[in-house]
Amino acid sequence: MSVRVAGIGTALPEKVVTNDDLAQHMDTSDAWIRERSGIGERRVGGSTVDMAVEAATAAIAAADLTPDDIGFLVLCTTTPEKTFPASSAMVAAGLGITCGAMDLNVVCAGFPYGYVAAYGMMTTPGGPDRVLVIGSDAMSTIVDWTDRGTAILFGDGAGAVVLEKSPQGELLGQDFGVNGDLESILYCDLGDTIVMEGRQVFKRAVRAVTGSVENALAQAGISAEDIDVVLPHQANIRIIEAVTQRLGIPMEKTFNVLEHTGNTSGASIPMAMAAADEAGVLEPGAVVLMSGFGAGMAWGSVVVTW
Ligand code: ACO
Repeated sequence: MSVRVAGIGTALPEKVVTNDDLAQHMDTSDAWIRERSGIGERRVGGSTVDMAVEAATAAIAAADLTPDDIGFLVLCTTTPEKTFPASSAMVAAGLGITCGAMDLNVVCAGFPYGYVAAYGMMTTPGGPDRVLVIGSDAMSTIVDWTDRGTAILFGDGAGAVVLEKSPQGELLGQDFGVNGDLESILYCDLGDTIVMEGRQVFKRAVRAVTGSVENALAQAGISAEDIDVVLPHQANIRIIEAVTQRLGIPMEKTFNVLEHTGNTSGASIPMAMAAADEAGVLEPGAVVLMSGFGAGMAWGSVVVTW
């Protein structure tokens, strides 16, 4: 028995903040931000729970299901709305369901962790037939809007997938890790805003993601050229370029939304998946790589057949 993606949905708040908007109150420019990150604009003003409910509703509809068909819910988020209850419980309430639900925080690396956790749960005896895996983050609520080193990068958004038991869709390889000794280069204290050493994070991210993908591919017994579709964490287009170049994967195989969304943390990989779906490349049998990194420093990669 395997697990396939039966439906994908996304949600973005309405308010657009362009690079030019940011340049009006900090020392930066559209040209600098685009060149250094690939980001042109981001959305702000979303709430983690509301965006998650919207994306999940769209994913359930895309799968031709109703909320009652969902057997478990995983919410990957960096920005829970309260210490408790878990935001996932509020998302379940918003969908009108009472299945098991949990928050999962691996910051920007969350989605591959959530995907594999759901996969594992579904393939154990008595496991649910369908699991909603949602990434939803209101990063604008934890950004210091006077800090040009971080404010240019982040945005709000959500992406959701319905996973369902199926003969189609195999998990071929996975790789996860953290290096907690690197806390100081990227962290956010409770109630505070993001602190980041951008250049350090950049270097470590390229190294971590490249190694993680190599490990996942080795486990899968395939090589980089066997990959059809890459869904990378959307932090910086230069990180994606550096990693794919090291791995020998053409950029054309990557799907990216960051020009219009910025870094939406846990939401970025399912949003890239929605872009790939729209492009029609997620054919049954396609080999798909999802890989993320984030504060921790945490990384996670998963290779599946569609
Ligand atoms: N506009 C204009 N100039 C700027 C800006 C800005 N917004 N920010 C920094 N600068 C200046 C710096 O002060 C520096 O000036 P100096 O040379 O006079 O000292 C110069 O530009 C170069 O700065 P760098 O930090 O070296 O620029 P870099 O090319 O590394 O780009 C960036 C910065 C975009 C932040 C990049 O380092 C990056 O994307 N890092 C990774 C960040 C990331 O992925 N974070 C998310 C992790 S996921 C998670 O868990 C949240």
